[in-house]
Amino acid sequence: MNHPLVPKRESPIQNFRDSTEYVLLTGATGLVGQFLLKELLMAGVRVAVLVRPSRRLSPQSRIELILQRWERDLGRLLPRPVILPGEVTSQRVGLGDSQFSWVAQNCSAIIHNAAVVSFEEEDLSREPWATNVKGTEYVLSLASDAGIREMHYVSTAFVCGDRQGVITEDELDCGQSFRNAYEESKFRAESLIRAQADKLDVTIYRPSVIAGDSVTGFTSSYHGLMLYLRLLDLLVPQQPRNAMGQHETPIELPMRGDEPHDLVTVDFVGRAIATLFCNPLAHGRTFHLCADQPTTFRDVIDWCCEIYNSGGVVYRGDCEDVTPTSEFSRLFFDQSRVYQSYNRCQTRFEMENLKRFCPGLHSPEIDEAMVRRFIHFGRRDRWGKARPKAPTCPPVSSDRIGAWISSHSGLRRKIAHHPLGIRLLGPGGGDYSATRGSSGEIQVTLGLPREHGELIDLPVAQLIESALHFDGLNNQTPDNLRQFA
Ligand SMILES: NC(=O)c1ccc[n+]([C@@H]2O[C@H](COP(=O)([O-])OP(=O)(O)OC[C@H]3O[C@@H](n4cnc5c(N)ncnc54)[C@H](OP(=O)(O)O)[C@@H]3O)[C@@H](O)[C@H]2O)c1
Repeated sequence: MNHPLVPKRESPIQNFRDSTEYVLLTGATGLVGQFLLKELLMAGVRVAVLVRPSRRLSPQSRIELILQRWERDLGRLLPRPVILPGEVTSQRVGLGDSQFSWVAQNCSAIIHNAAVVSFEEEDLSREPWATNVKGTEYVLSLASDAGIREMHYVSTAFVCGDRQGVITEDELDCGQSFRNAYEESKFRAESLIRAQADKLDVTIYRPSVIAGDSVTGFTSSYHGLMLYLRLLDLLVPQQPRNAMGQHETPIELPMRGDEPHDLVTVDFVGRAIATLFCNPLAHGRTFHLCADQPTTFRDVIDWCCEIYNSGGVVYRGDCEDVTPTSEFSRLFFDQSRVYQSYNRCQTRFEMENLKRFCPGLHSPEIDEAMVRRFIHFGRRDRWGKARPKAPTCPPVSSDRIGAWISSHSGLRRKIAHHPLGIRLLGPGGGDYSATRGSSGEIQVTLGLPREHGELIDLPVAQLIESALHFDGLNNQTPDNLRQFA
């Protein structure tokens, strides 16, 4: 029997795009971005990522950490994207001149996925407005300045605001009001992108509420369902038990309980966006990425009561508000205030475009076993507080790659006439081009060549082993490289 945490992953998706062009992906370090990046790299898409440093890690280390986790999970090596340090709230998204020229020469599409998922802010100069609206303006300017004509935007199904009933994919501005600054900022950003549809080929992806990975429970953000689970994990064990040994969690909820709760898993969202991106026939449309059969709040609450061995929930029906009747309910409402306006949501998102272009692709059904996986992962991750160790593998230097080419006479001859693409796979890897300079020297630059020339896929460990051998050194390959050799 498979261990429940050993993932069974689908095969790479088929890429129908021109495989010599790069896509610039924003938000690659976020929840959706990590899955999207993995799917794109596995499909053979050339990817450049715009990444800012975190407090502890450089952009390179952040991406390396993500990809080494995927490699352990998948049991295979992955290529590395071209990493462009930057951030979307600056002019030209913070790119220097040479990076901007590289983007203009090599990128034919942008997937703008970066956003701030924070619900409360009235001040338009701050988040989420700065990243979601101003940042989108800067991304659009970059596309215009760099001559990029294909724009993919990760929006949200909740640009529909407080509308109820059936929401179709081509609707946007229907005079709706918004529950919070996040919804409104995403609405404004999607409007800005759509307004460029005469100049750009625009494709919009609108996920509903995103939960963790259906297989491993992995998440990197604790919004929505994960916020509730974290809260219950903290509060329920502190509540007294009744004679049956059950935790008493008395709470009155202002809902019927059968309201739809449209949750999708992040593996589905990443796969759907990558599949549609890789199929040019699908472009130019809007895609709702939502649940076929949304669960209900009552389903999720019943599973949680079962998992935490607790009880005491009363559904008050269609009332506006309730007064907390216990310390447990007061704490619960205080901590989950930002989501309460979604309790009585009665929307259904039409998914005609997704059914047409990805028949058979559905978000896995969310059930009690999956919620248990989310909780299991959350606990191991200390609900977002665990700090993974920084990866120890710096990128291979251009000199090392040049030296490796020099040591192979066949390769030296090849690059006399055409550039050679070298895709270094695994920890420390990257995309490189090797050419001959005017005086015969080998020049190695970042990014694969645009021409349909020869491309070598080479595990980093293999390059290092052979270089060490060439240098006459032994046994000095770091362990994290040797395991992939
Ligand atoms: N999560 C959901 O339930 C949900 C539902 C529907 C739609 N969406 C949409 O899906 C997309 C991805 O969301 P997510 O859940 O993956 O969010 P996330 O986990 O919070 O990731 C957000 C990503 O955006 C990046 N980012 C934020 N501000 C930036 C800036 N100023 N410059 C550069 N990068 C910046 C973050 O970089 P750092 O790592 O450096 O912070 C991170 O990579 C967003 O557009 C969101 O609106 C999300």
